[in-house]
Amino acid sequence: MTAWNAGRIPDQHGRTAIVTGANSGIGYVTARELARAGAHVVLACRSAVRGSAAVERLREEVPGAGPEFAALDLGDLASVRAFGDAWGGRPLDLLVNNAGVMALPYGRTADGFETQFGVNHLGHFALTGLLLPSLLETPAPRVVTVSSALHALADIDIGDLNSEKRYRKWTAYGRSKTANLLFVHELSRRAAAAGLPLVAAAAHPGYAATSLQTRGALMEGRKGTERAFQLANRLVAQPPTAGALPTLYAATAPGVRSDDFYGPRVLMWRGAPARSWRAPWTVGDVAGERLWVASEQLTGVDYGSALKV
Ligand SMILES: NC(=O)c1ccc[n+]([C@@H]2O[C@H](COP(=O)([O-])OP(=O)(O)OC[C@H]3O[C@@H](n4cnc5c(N)ncnc54)[C@H](OP(=O)(O)O)[C@@H]3O)[C@@H](O)[C@H]2O)c1
Repeated sequence: MTAWNAGRIPDQHGRTAIVTGANSGIGYVTARELARAGAHVVLACRSAVRGSAAVERLREEVPGAGPEFAALDLGDLASVRAFGDAWGGRPLDLLVNNAGVMALPYGRTADGFETQFGVNHLGHFALTGLLLPSLLETPAPRVVTVSSALHALADIDIGDLNSEKRYRKWTAYGRSKTANLLFVHELSRRAAAAGLPLVAAAAHPGYAATSLQTRGALMEGRKGTERAFQLANRLVAQPPTAGALPTLYAATAPGVRSDDFYGPRVLMWRGAPARSWRAPWTVGDVAGERLWVASEQLTGVDYGSALKV
């Protein structure tokens, strides 16, 4: 049997999906392939220019698809709340928490959170909570959160979630991607305890050539690092079409279970989707609970009585 590929996505007609950060990289491919399989796809992006351009490109690449653009800046909780309000309780079958930033110089979101933790984890935590009632309106809802093999760089520090004591950009990235996995773990645990049909899974793309790698170097004006990443992207990365497959698998394949983590089969780097290794600190109930409580406090988003433990 051939390895799993986008051609094996089950029919998605009648399903509605939101993909965050869908204007580029693996988010764009995820949105496009979901649309190709028949889903109604909403591209949730922070830039109206880049988001609308992606919608146009998708329309050209998948004739007949009717993708929508919606404004969403995960680094600004007011924008996340506005997105939730605009969604207005429409039923939602699939939420793909894909957007992300990596190894940026120290910065803060509009709400004062360290940027990588704020965008990669807290923004998606808030978004998922606000969309939960819409997800629970549908018979088989899924939430897929994109983490990284680099979660292995660092466990979260519950006493210093915003890396205020000391900031190291790669450690902060690792922590944010560990937070993604702990979030999936805790969401799965709570949904199961409440008897809800929600499947919360995680994915990572291995190493895929996107704009993710060069953003930090660009911001710091480090031309050498930028060129080194560009070279590595050409030589050892897989294309975003392959990098999106674990997300697409987690989002659509039958048999995916809550708290599963999918990534490329070969060395967590490239190849067809398979269950992926994850660091032991990403499956701790106590850590998951602590991060959940802290995230509710920091974002002010209450998941409500349906997911209390
Ligand atoms: N590429 C890899 O090798 C790799 C490996 C492991 C994990 N990942 C993960 O894969 C995911 C997608 O990354 P990618 O590789 O496809 O990179 P990418 O092409 O740079 O895409 C990142 C997306 O996130 C969006 N984004 C960034 N900050 C945002 C914010 N504040 N609000 C809303 N959207 C925001 C970006 O929008 P703009 O275009 O407006 O900046 C862009 O659409 C990320 O979560 C990343 O951590 C990637």
